Amino acid sequence: MPQTNSATGHTGDPAGFAALTDDLGLLYGGDYNPEQWDRDTWREDVRLMVEAGVNLVTVGVFSWARYEPRPGVRDFGWLDEVLDLLHVAGVAVDLATPTASPPPWLGTLHPDTLPVDADGVRLVAGSRNQFSPASRVYREHALAITRDLVDRYAGHPAVRMWHVGNELGQVCYGEESAAEFRRWLRDRYGTVEALNEAWATAVWSQHYASFDEILPPRRTPYHVNPTQSLDFRRYTSDQLLALYREQRELIRAVDTERPVTTNLMGFFPLADYWSWAQDLDVVADDAYPDPGDPRSPADAALTADLVRSLGGGRPWMLMEAAVGAVSWRDHNLPKTPARSRREALQAVAHGADGVCYFQWRASRAGAERFHSAMLPHAGPDTRVHAGVVRVGGDLARLRDVVGQRVPARVVVLFDWESWWAAEEQARPTERLRTLDVLRAWYRVLWDAGVAVDLAHPDDLAVTGAAGYDVLLVPQSYLLSPEAADAVAAAAARGASVVVGCFTGVADQDAHVRTGRFPALLSDLLGVSGEEWAALPDDGVPLTGRLAGPGGSTATDLADAGDGPRAHVLGELLRADGAEVLASYAVGHLAGAPAVTRHRVPGLDGGAADTADPTAGWAWYLGTVLPEPLLRRVLTDACERAGVTGALPGLTDLPDVEAVRRGDHLFLLNHSGAAAHVPVPGEHADVLSGSIFTDVVDVPAGDVVVLTERNA
Ligand code: GLA
Repeated sequence: MPQTNSATGHTGDPAGFAALTDDLGLLYGGDYNPEQWDRDTWREDVRLMVEAGVNLVTVGVFSWARYEPRPGVRDFGWLDEVLDLLHVAGVAVDLATPTASPPPWLGTLHPDTLPVDADGVRLVAGSRNQFSPASRVYREHALAITRDLVDRYAGHPAVRMWHVGNELGQVCYGEESAAEFRRWLRDRYGTVEALNEAWATAVWSQHYASFDEILPPRRTPYHVNPTQSLDFRRYTSDQLLALYREQRELIRAVDTERPVTTNLMGFFPLADYWSWAQDLDVVADDAYPDPGDPRSPADAALTADLVRSLGGGRPWMLMEAAVGAVSWRDHNLPKTPARSRREALQAVAHGADGVCYFQWRASRAGAERFHSAMLPHAGPDTRVHAGVVRVGGDLARLRDVVGQRVPARVVVLFDWESWWAAEEQARPTERLRTLDVLRAWYRVLWDAGVAVDLAHPDDLAVTGAAGYDVLLVPQSYLLSPEAADAVAAAAARGASVVVGCFTGVADQDAHVRTGRFPALLSDLLGVSGEEWAALPDDGVPLTGRLAGPGGSTATDLADAGDGPRAHVLGELLRADGAEVLASYAVGHLAGAPAVTRHRVPGLDGGAADTADPTAGWAWYLGTVLPEPLLRRVLTDACERAGVTGALPGLTDLPDVEAVRRGDHLFLLNHSGAAAHVPVPGEHADVLSGSIFTDVVDVPAGDVVVLTERNA
């Protein structure tokens, strides 16, 4: 049954996607752009797709100018032929609405459909994405072509999924956007006085007499009002979602069964995907980890966990990835086929029921002529294509994984509004980056093979953090009172809670909460603060005692040998009942606590008692800790909550990832050395058929997917 989003009345229905994967198994394929090729090539494409195990292609993402070469004209005949060819070969189609790239005539006839940047420059055709999400004329044209496309193809047997637009992420500061922004603000605030209050326009003489005076945060002489900027981000996200919804509704009116989605972009900064996810029948993501970044495997795992969590844990889809190099970075390092395969299987390990690439056949021309593809310029007799065929075989062997879940007992709080608000202009330091902190915390868990979900703090307030034994709050700048209560309640029923600095700083209007901080959490944490202090470039030495992993004796930090220093930001804290684990040795914060731990009274509300099994623990990290210390804290938090990784001892095997999905154990060796992984019992590798007893050999760069034998 469709799940109704009570806030919007819109629905996302996972059943259609589940039916598709039940039928086809794990989805495999990519963007297919037949308009770039002749008919003979189409035939070769389809033949090679089948040989490679491709069962789904996304067609028509950039076909608008081909469908509608002149205003109102329609040319769909070529697509009839392509869809028929694909259908006969058994390749399903994810048919895109072509609205990401309007034909040049639209901007020529209606310049107000074109986006305007913050400097007032109107962007023009010649690339793609040249539309303003607020433009009524653009939207009318986009709906008209979508309506005709859907009417024509909703009954075509090749079409099994719908794909709205592409990577919705446009932002526009023009006149029509200003009008839409004002409308959005009226809805949010009702009166201009309420807006003045929320935007604190008493500062710098910004008081507005009427909504009509308000503009998007275009280029200003000096720092822009942070709440105005935050609201414009909220508005932009909602506006983009409205674009998705209106095309989705149009599809739904004709086709009530096939799944509808659009491709998200992980931690994309211009859209709050928590507010989008309910409208997607399957959460689909485009992911391009940088092969030049040694942290990519962990960061890609984090993104995958985010995407799975957006959909409430149900299977998601890797909609676009690069088989090899991309062409949009300054310097585009390639990927070996082994790396590409590992990334595909990593997505599946983290809950994906489909792996697709951009794109099937490499373009000979145009802006993406040097982007890798499943079928490179050099043709099928290539290392890259052989790798693609191999992955097709792997995914077919993994059919039993379809629909299986990735259970997690650790939840990390993250939300876009906090991220946005924490990084508005003019703050204690620009070096504290929400995603950097999040990634550093996640990496510790990833190294240990600890499964993680992400959650919006306010959702946690609704669900009560049920099922989670460790709650991590790396940096939630706008943490709400309800979310803070949910975190505290989890600790009171025995969970470990770890909170990072610069959390709970401001309310939803981005006004700093007054009094000692973090106001909403200081009872839970047993600590409170009064000053934020940017730290010197080389950090500040810490003193104190922090327990090592495995319950080992606390080590005096001065002797720890890892030169522990606090970085980026510190806080002038005072322990109000918490145990101080580390303090600043020198400088502005000398003697102040940097890391604390607090025994939290159990649900009966009695005094904190170390023997009380229902009582939890709450740590506070008032600074950015170096990795070894962060590891000690997070390991301690997991151990006290009884949370272990997918396999014991994994941290001794650097860059070997272990993920459990249903009854499958994925071992991914991202390192350059063979790994001998202790896995008690007898297991079979679904991919190779090899049998292992107690120790599993994973060659450098390779992957095994284990199921227990005789289980
Ligand atoms: C995204 C886009 C594609 C293509 C690729 C290139 O995934 O959706 O159209 O441009 O990036 O990496």
